[in-house]
Amino acid sequence: MAEFKVKDISLAKQGILSIEWASKHMPVLNQIRREFVKEKPLTDIVIGACLHVTKETAVLVEALTAGGAHVALCGSNPLSTQDDVAAALAEKGVNVYAWRGETTEDYYWCVNKVLDHAPLITLDDGADLVGTLHKKSGDALKNVKGGTEETTTGVIRLRTMERTGALKYPIIAVNDAYTKYLFDNRYGTGQSTIDGILRSTTLLLAGKNFVVCGYGWCGRGLAMRAKGMGAHVIVTEVNPIRALEAVMDGFRVMPIDKASVVGDVFVTTTGNISVIRKEHMLEMKDGAIIANSGHFNVEINIPDLESISSGKRTLRSNLEEYTVQNGRKLHLLAQGRLVNLAAAEGHPSEVMDMSFANQALCVRYLVEKSGMDPKVYSVPKDIDELVASLKLKAINVEIDELTEEQKSYLATWETGTI
Ligand SMILES: NC(=O)c1ccc[n+]([C@@H]2O[C@H](COP(=O)([O-])OP(=O)(O)OC[C@H]3O[C@@H](n4cnc5c(N)ncnc54)[C@H](O)[C@@H]3O)[C@@H](O)[C@H]2O)c1
Repeated sequence: MAEFKVKDISLAKQGILSIEWASKHMPVLNQIRREFVKEKPLTDIVIGACLHVTKETAVLVEALTAGGAHVALCGSNPLSTQDDVAAALAEKGVNVYAWRGETTEDYYWCVNKVLDHAPLITLDDGADLVGTLHKKSGDALKNVKGGTEETTTGVIRLRTMERTGALKYPIIAVNDAYTKYLFDNRYGTGQSTIDGILRSTTLLLAGKNFVVCGYGWCGRGLAMRAKGMGAHVIVTEVNPIRALEAVMDGFRVMPIDKASVVGDVFVTTTGNISVIRKEHMLEMKDGAIIANSGHFNVEINIPDLESISSGKRTLRSNLEEYTVQNGRKLHLLAQGRLVNLAAAEGHPSEVMDMSFANQALCVRYLVEKSGMDPKVYSVPKDIDELVASLKLKAINVEIDELTEEQKSYLATWETGTI
């Protein structure tokens, strides 16, 4: 039996059913798992993973285990663990340290428990595992060969580590694969953020002023889906090109201090800090809803919200009502943590199929490749394209192939206007 710490091991039965449901919708990862079963490319490899403990992550863990790996897993957010899934993984023999509602102290205890397994490969979502490992003294890093990173915020942190010479082993930025961010960040976050808002509020989005802070991959997906629900979408940005894109995509763009006055629902997707602050909260309408779908719970300045409030009540699961000095009520969802994972179940399985297919293939690549420098690497192009091809095949979509004439035409410069 593996070592584990989960909320309630008796939830395992439900977790196994949830994992089965996710697995049915992850054909690409299943294909990789079947290859791993045959080829055992990860025999006796210890993998330390800090990922949201969801049913889809469990399918990834099963693929890695099928390849011969031993996996130790903790959550990458104190509020995102699906306790039934954690219990199921523990029962299946995975070293899992995760439960929903961890304190910050619990969270890092779990991260350190994973590191105690001395992983050869790390899988991270937000770079807390890598950061904790690099802060350890002695020879903590000596076993590590490489790692992968799942999200934008983690990649930003790792690039800073690389730039300042702090990064000590190679990491592949899975987030930056086309088959990751174009689908996971955009369609995954778009749909699941709406899911989290609806599960916690049950309110109508049609006709509401829906403010999306940050028009990156997540923000684009969210704005698109909110518009589809009939909301009037307003975008706030700091990047002029992204702001212009939002304008041409048909959204109103304005600074957050103006949006604060008119917004009904606010969602941050910036990966930045203090995007919504006291001065904005004081302008918001009575009843406004504030949520975050970026990686860390710093996008909404919660200490600011506490400081201007005379009290708070929990009205529903993941919905806290703050009474502000001016008498208005503001509603914070999921304590400002990723609303799609804390108040819903994260991205749909079909999307995670591609993100985690990249993860599984990158783990294999790291195990087999030697001589990599301590840098942040892109996902190899052939892995990215393979994931797209397998996904198309799985959903029965055929595409054309270049003819010989087309290939040679694209390779010449002599032929111009005819
Ligand atoms: N909820 C999820 O499941 C999920 C999934 C993927 C990524 N993420 C996280 O979401 C965040 C955004 O990821 P992304 O891939 O969209 O990143 P991105 O870099 O593509 O987009 C972020 C955007 O925010 C803008 N921005 C930065 N500061 C701002 C500010 N003060 N006001 C307004 N806009 C600002 C940037 O200019 C940029 O356009 C990251 O933290 C990422 O890790 C969450």
